[in-house]
Amino acid sequence: MITFDVPTSACDMPTAVCLTVNGEPQQRVTHPTTTLLQFLRNDLALNGPKYGCGLGQCGACTVLVDGVAARSCVIPAEGVSGRSITTLEGLVSDGGQLHPVQQAFKDTQAAQCGYCLNGMVMMTVALLKHNPHPTDAQIRAQLSHNLCRCGSHLEIMQAVKKAAAFLAPVA
Ligand code: FES
Repeated sequence: MITFDVPTSACDMPTAVCLTVNGEPQQRVTHPTTTLLQFLRNDLALNGPKYGCGLGQCGACTVLVDGVAARSCVIPAEGVSGRSITTLEGLVSDGGQLHPVQQAFKDTQAAQCGYCLNGMVMMTVALLKHNPHPTDAQIRAQLSHNLCRCGSHLEIMQAVKKAAAFLAPVA
């Protein structure tokens, strides 16, 4: 479990947040209680990460912090000053092409209402980065704490396996 301590002097101002989001440096003055999710959605208008439970339990708000999946609703924005954040929007190429994981979820119609999609995609990107050939059990374990109330679990499994097959290095 990675932790995010609130730094004391990452920026000139005590409530300043300075970080990189989707490759772009960002600096804002925020309230000390502002979460990373609030910062991304309200300050940067990045609405890929969703607000679900607000308690770190549903996974709807998942982003990558220095490449590691993290629940942005329970991380203070100040706590990730100096870090590199990737959101769902940041997976899309400069030319507008979906990331292979996004494309796999689209191709398999893995989302019904779509509210869990952000978390499922970000967790899958994190999984395949470190484990290009996950077993079914490993996929389930990775996504087991991301809630899908539509019950699209079979399609989500298919999407992860499709993305893995596309991304896996050729032996
Ligand atoms: Fe962050 Fe549910 S909204 S885990």
